[in-house]
Amino acid sequence: MLFQIQNSPFSPVLVDRLLSTIMALLPAPHETATTTTLKHPHTTHPYRNRTHSPDELVDLAIASHIARILKRSRIGGDESFFIADLGQILRQHRRWTLNMPGIRPYYAVKCNPDPPFLRVLSELGTGFDCASIAELRLVLSLGVDPARILFANPCKAPAAVSFAHEAGVLRTTFDNIDELDTIKTYMPDAQLLLRIYANDESAFICLSEKFGAPLDTTEELLERAWELGLNVIGVSFHVGTGATNPASFCKAIKDARTAFTQATRIGFHPQILDIGGGFQDDCFETMAPVLREAIRSEFPEGVTTIAEPGRFFARSVYTLVCRVISRRRQLGNAAVSGVPDMLYQNDGVYGNFMNVIMEKEVMVPYLVKKEGRNLLVKSKGENPGKDGQAGSHRYSIWGPTCDSTDCVVREVTFNSEVRVGDWLKYKNMGAYTSTTATQFNGFSSTYDTFYVNSESLIDF
Ligand SMILES: Cc1ncc(COP(=O)(O)O)c(C=O)c1O
Repeated sequence: MLFQIQNSPFSPVLVDRLLSTIMALLPAPHETATTTTLKHPHTTHPYRNRTHSPDELVDLAIASHIARILKRSRIGGDESFFIADLGQILRQHRRWTLNMPGIRPYYAVKCNPDPPFLRVLSELGTGFDCASIAELRLVLSLGVDPARILFANPCKAPAAVSFAHEAGVLRTTFDNIDELDTIKTYMPDAQLLLRIYANDESAFICLSEKFGAPLDTTEELLERAWELGLNVIGVSFHVGTGATNPASFCKAIKDARTAFTQATRIGFHPQILDIGGGFQDDCFETMAPVLREAIRSEFPEGVTTIAEPGRFFARSVYTLVCRVISRRRQLGNAAVSGVPDMLYQNDGVYGNFMNVIMEKEVMVPYLVKKEGRNLLVKSKGENPGKDGQAGSHRYSIWGPTCDSTDCVVREVTFNSEVRVGDWLKYKNMGAYTSTTATQFNGFSSTYDTFYVNSESLIDF
């Protein structure tokens, strides 16, 4: 039986199809929801529950998987694991549709290429931004129509251009003359987007140092494309990942207008404005109307607008659970001078925490403790530590490698002691985490992911 969904951008039939697909992706349940069987190293059946909040559902899954790990062996596994809430994808997609009506998202696969996650997005009708042969292969293997894929890498290897062409992926970006020559040779019927320079200085990672044609070069590039007989269908930009300044989007949209005018003067018929990625959870609702207004004012005649969000869709879907593998209680002078005790966990900056270095992200751990036989108590670490608080325990948290750069949290205070064997939960770990993990020092870069579905839109 289908539930009617209030204010939903999806029809009940679509939601039904979507959730059926989610279920079809995952192995059939062999046990009840609280004792899920790990059939495949990366998947298990999703929990669905109408009485728990999304956070509670994730915590239940954490408790269940910790119990399972401990049942298998008291020592426990060596690797951290993820809990992914597939229902959160639906909520983010709903937010996108409400705030960016008519702007189709092409999810940036580089952000998190987890296949069940991609499959849900595919069912929701998004497009995909791929940057490499492997990403193209992955998305195509899910049965996605090549017309829904944008090869959004302006500097591609000839082999990659040729692969995309053979696979029927024709939409791609460029920002230099040599790329046009490669495209002419290996994808002469390409549908090209000129990637222009754009920059938000507040972004975590500014992409403008590497990509994007400055406005004083766009005319020359467009003329060269015309000489080569190529087809330019629009303009793209990316203000930088983790952007916060709407003015940077407005400037880029204005510059895109200029490039549109140049392209039209040369003889092209540009129709697509690609506003890239850079959207953040925190400021999405304040950025969106500014952006919409900028598009409306620069393109009063209307324009087909697309985007390449990554972080916005992936970040909040995944929770990471790590285990404390060692602890150093300070002795001697360090103890006297109040240096926090040190916790070593089974995941660090060479694994899922590279954002600590790349984006200067301050991680917030939650302590997951076993109390009695099966009760799990969670308390959030306060950062920075509150020295001298009654009952407070101050720690720094480190990854497992033998490298001192591998520091996950400089200082955090918990209201109870943390011991070897305890678990730490980190929320919002879906963006640029597992996809950037390395095997440095012999530590694994593959992690189990367990799926829950908090979106009770349907009667199961
Ligand atoms: C071309 C391109 N598109 C989209 C994205 C996704 O950006 P974000 O995750 O900030 O939305 C990136 C990220 O680096 C990118 O390089």
